[in-house]
Amino acid sequence: MATDTVTTGGVDIEIRGLYKIFGPRGQDHVEAVKAGMSKQELLERHGHVLGLKDIDLSTPAGSIQVVMGLSGSGKSTLIRHINRLIDPTVGEVLVGGDDVCAMNRAALREFRRNRTAMVFQKFALLPHRTVIDNVVYGLELQGVDKATRDKAAHRWIERVGLAGFEDNYPNQLSGGMQQRVGLARALANDSPLLLMDEAFSALDPLIRMDMQSVLLDLQRELKKTIVFITHDLDEALRLGDRVAILRDGEVIQEGTGQEIVLNPADEYIQNFVKEVNRGRVILVESVMRPGAIAAASTVIGQGMHLESAARAMSTEGTDVANVTGANGEIVGHVMMGATVAAMVEQDNRHTPMA
Ligand SMILES: Nc1ncnc2c1ncn2[C@@H]1O[C@H](COP(=O)(O)OP(=O)(O)OP(=O)(O)O)[C@@H](O)[C@H]1O
Ligand SMILES: [Mg+2]
Repeated sequence: MATDTVTTGGVDIEIRGLYKIFGPRGQDHVEAVKAGMSKQELLERHGHVLGLKDIDLSTPAGSIQVVMGLSGSGKSTLIRHINRLIDPTVGEVLVGGDDVCAMNRAALREFRRNRTAMVFQKFALLPHRTVIDNVVYGLELQGVDKATRDKAAHRWIERVGLAGFEDNYPNQLSGGMQQRVGLARALANDSPLLLMDEAFSALDPLIRMDMQSVLLDLQRELKKTIVFITHDLDEALRLGDRVAILRDGEVIQEGTGQEIVLNPADEYIQNFVKEVNRGRVILVESVMRPGAIAAASTVIGQGMHLESAARAMSTEGTDVANVTGANGEIVGHVMMGATVAAMVEQDNRHTPMA
């Protein structure tokens, strides 16, 4: 419920053995799909569409789970299961331990209104409502009184950088500003779970980066659980604590950005990661060697990206730096050469899929 205080913290999401087969008799084809029938064969032979296949995904509370994949890979289908806009053919979706699929109508309505919020690619603002009236919309549905909801709305409008635009209508705003309204509206719900389906995909690159920064800044404070869908790997790596990559309804790889960039599971993923700015994804730990170098005057922190480490060494005109852990103790050292090599490496290696 929205109140004067802002709730922080999210809920965990647990998706288990999820299958979605679109068509009148989806159930009838589960066994065949489990036995390996391809999406194409299912369509050609049985006129059913494989939406999702055997999805297992655990998202810890307070983290950003990115789901990435090409058009038609099942991203929207997956996120729409989380608030049960779609019912699974088989499988379970647990949010904060509650089985979303077992909820009756009333419980589901309560869950959607108070425990989830969505941000859409096409903003989905109400055109005849002003900015503030759009932002309070969810709170109206929650039955929050006007004074409280106006106060909450003002706060979120300010937080997304739109103070002064409260009384404008959506068509008076740029796309980036409209999506700030969409974000403020979702945040005003004060729900622990934020579902964002290609929320930034319609924005120009620079505006899109701005919005990513806004989201990351807010998340540092709010620590909600965010499921963020994108088809852009740079966005996925920047935002995601973990990234799941879908193809034809299946999770092909799931892990941290660094894990995926360093060890793409197959050629499909390798094609995605080829163009990535590795220096901003890979951490110094990947090139760190044990022991301290007594002569090194440069010190960098664990968890730093390669690019920042290289910059620190280059600024100080040195080619070695000691790496410190959380308590300031030296945990190893890195060399400039290895750091730069890891940044530019066009790695052709890939481990075949298990
Ligand atoms: N209601 C439906 N009925 C039949 N097939 C569907 C339905 N919804 C989705 N599909 C199919 O399921 C697959 C996954 O679609 P989905 O919309 O989840 O993909 P997506 O990854 O979100 O794609 P995009 O990037 O284009 O949004 C596609 O083959 C799509 O045609
Ligand atoms: Mg989609």
